[in-house]
Amino acid sequence: MRAWLQCDRCDATYPLHEVRYRCECGWLLDVTHELEGMRGVVSRETFDARHIELAGPRTSPKHSSGVWRYTELVLPVEDEEIVSRPEGNTPSYHHERLSEWVGLDEFCVKHEGENPTGSFKDRGMTVGVTQARALGARAVACASTGNTSASLAAYAAMAGLPALVFIPAGHIAYGKLSQALAYGARTFQIEGDFDDAMGLVQRVCEELDIFLLNSMNPFRLEGQKTIVFELLQSRGWVPPQWIVFPAGNLGNTAAFGKALHELHVLGLIDTIPRLVAVQAEGANPFYLGFMGGFRERVAVRAETIATAIRIGAPVSYWRAVRALRWTDGLVMQVSDQEIMDAKAQVDAAGIGCEPASAAAVAGVRKLVAEAVMDRSDSVVAILTGHLLKDPQSTVDYHSGDTSSSLKATYANRPIPIEASVDAVRRSLEGWL
Ligand code: F0G
Repeated sequence: MRAWLQCDRCDATYPLHEVRYRCECGWLLDVTHELEGMRGVVSRETFDARHIELAGPRTSPKHSSGVWRYTELVLPVEDEEIVSRPEGNTPSYHHERLSEWVGLDEFCVKHEGENPTGSFKDRGMTVGVTQARALGARAVACASTGNTSASLAAYAAMAGLPALVFIPAGHIAYGKLSQALAYGARTFQIEGDFDDAMGLVQRVCEELDIFLLNSMNPFRLEGQKTIVFELLQSRGWVPPQWIVFPAGNLGNTAAFGKALHELHVLGLIDTIPRLVAVQAEGANPFYLGFMGGFRERVAVRAETIATAIRIGAPVSYWRAVRALRWTDGLVMQVSDQEIMDAKAQVDAAGIGCEPASAAAVAGVRKLVAEAVMDRSDSVVAILTGHLLKDPQSTVDYHSGDTSSSLKATYANRPIPIEASVDAVRRSLEGWL
């Protein structure tokens, strides 16, 4: 299997072992696989034959990981080189009440928050850190709204690589900050937002010779493609009509489009699902670009309760535009109120997710209400992060915290009570 780095604008190519993220012309690079050579060699059966096995000291990651199962389409490497937790193999859930709430018969959520560090980032990080080690990197770094830093810190610790993370002070959920600190990353809280941190980390990596592991790194995207591979494989390679997900820095948008394009070129799927990237109203540069026909790259100053997607100048902008072109995709926006209400519904279904993930579910409900989706359409939403990543937002919502302007539409308030059975009985009257 042959792969190389390639520019989508000027077609320049570079070898995989060259440390570079951008082409000489300034465009971001892709990992390009020689798909022609794979026709007939790589098939659905190739992946179906790799039965999932529990990770043990000698289990091949190609069996235990939902990323490395697709190694031919991710990164052709030997087992010994791989740094894996293992990740992936995430479940999909169908829940009657949640489906009813969004207005669909056939709705399911694939829970990427059930990855080792609680977000989809682990799928990209296993590939990024594997490549970092293969290149002999002396350290790895990222800017982050929280999840990337948690994942980088964990995988770097496993690989024995020093990790630097740059996060916006005061705008990262506590679960994520605690992970970066616990896993031993050198954690820089910068004054400014994610977009400032992103600018800084690029200069730091360039000047201090450190491997950059944000999603502008093409190896990260190769790992994140497997969300779509696994989703399709779990459905017997029968695609849903829509795949809906939250969008911030646009790494997933770019990766999902590339995944579907490659599967289609290889003949592993006959139809291509439509992608829907959902942004928060206060952090909506991609939505504004979409509404303007993508004539130019839009940037905004971002503000939203969903801190994971509080991003105003997404890095993978143009390759995300390409993903929409490949999939006849859409972009939409939802308010913070819609996000938190959708989160309350996902949580109350016993599934649970962090606020950014719920944007996807809010987006589905809106598309059904606007009759863009039909009740009978098959739709999969990607939940990107775990409920426990951001406990504060959940507790504030349910206890009706007055500092927020949001309405607790589906509040489940904690009940202060005297410690007696009588008091419990009184409180339960009319409830049980
Ligand atoms: N959902 C969650 C939970 C995220 O953490 C992120 C991004 C996204 C959605 C958006 O994905 O950037 O590929 O469009 N989090 C990054 C971080 C930026 O630093 O953890 P995207």
